[in-house]
Amino acid sequence: MHSIGYRANALLTFAVTILALMCAIVSLSDNLNSPSPAAQVQVLNINWFQKKPDGDDEVSLTLNISSNLQSLFTWNTKQVFVFVAAEYETSKNALNQVSLWDGIIPSKEHAKFWIHTTNKYRFVDQGSNLRGRDFNLTLHWHVMPKTGKMFADKIVMSGYRLPEAYR
Ligand SMILES: *[C@@H]1O[C@H](CO)[C@@H](O)[C@H](O)[C@H]1NC(C)=O
Ligand SMILES: *[C@@H]1O[C@H](CO)[C@@H](O)[C@H](O)[C@H]1NC(C)=O
Repeated sequence: MHSIGYRANALLTFAVTILALMCAIVSLSDNLNSPSPAAQVQVLNINWFQKKPDGDDEVSLTLNISSNLQSLFTWNTKQVFVFVAAEYETSKNALNQVSLWDGIIPSKEHAKFWIHTTNKYRFVDQGSNLRGRDFNLTLHWHVMPKTGKMFADKIVMSGYRLPEAYR
């Protein structure tokens, strides 16, 4: 005969094994979902564009960020973190990335939105490289699941350009 302690322990081990198995199935089924998110960002206005006293360029933009990330949500999604970044190339760096705006989407109902905003974070270059600069705007997302691995991806929107002159 097994002691009560031994049986309780065996039961616990069994329960934990089932739980782990369920979590594995949940995150596996989550991987089968192939999302089709969409995003669009318009630069509505260049509010100002200047060289700061320290020599670095800074620009202020008004953006219209519209996005439909509803397909990222499954019943295993806790929330989605999104950010919009300006990405551009300079002679020094192949990739300069400046985050302009971010947000947390708590649910599928909030995942289809548009927002009219000035850049929440400063668009500053470490130098004076922004005049006439071509840049991309990218919408990045990090999906935080209730269980399983976090995953991240992005949409790249290209063809943006800053003015040739400060204003
Ligand atoms: C922003 O973009 C959305 C979708 O393209 C559009 O419906 C909305 O009218 C735009 N808002 C502004 C202020 O341009
Ligand atoms: C901007 O986007 C284009 C097209 O997707 C890509 O070829 C280019 O490398 C991107 N530039 C940067 C700096 O990421």
